[in-house]
Amino acid sequence: MIALNVNGKSYQVDVSGDTPLLWVLRDHLGLTGTKYGCGVAACGACTVHADGEQTRACITPVSSLGGKQITTIEGLSAQGDHPVQKAWIEGDVPQCGYCQSGQIMAAAALLVKNPNPSDADIDSAMSGVLCRCGTYQRIRKAIHRAADMAKGG
Ligand code: FES
Ligand code: FES
Repeated sequence: MIALNVNGKSYQVDVSGDTPLLWVLRDHLGLTGTKYGCGVAACGACTVHADGEQTRACITPVSSLGGKQITTIEGLSAQGDHPVQKAWIEGDVPQCGYCQSGQIMAAAALLVKNPNPSDADIDSAMSGVLCRCGTYQRIRKAIHRAADMAKGG
């Protein structure tokens, strides 16, 4: 059994230690907001937080997580009202939506580290999260808006 803390809850999952976190989230815990894109750490669709750090769930063995706090899109905020989520809705960011939980989790992690990112900071932090629909301009604008909201704007 592997012990995990996900979105503030403790779980014991009966999987081998080399099972990728993504499959534990989706298949064992029913948290399907985290998406499978490439499986090789190349697209960012599976981005979650491990102790607040952007983490690619598709290549992270559950045994490597120790006592880390995992946060998925379902746990980012209790009411879906994290500033990034509000800015995403206000800016009508998603197109097909497939990449967007990864985008939101990456943006939220960025704003914790850098509450006032420049365009270059955003491009650098978000460059590994791909969007086949090309929503990059709206993502960048929404991250600026989320930064303002987080400061009460
Ligand atoms: S599915 Fe994990 S980076 Fe693409
Ligand atoms: S919104 Fe379609 S892949 Fe990003």
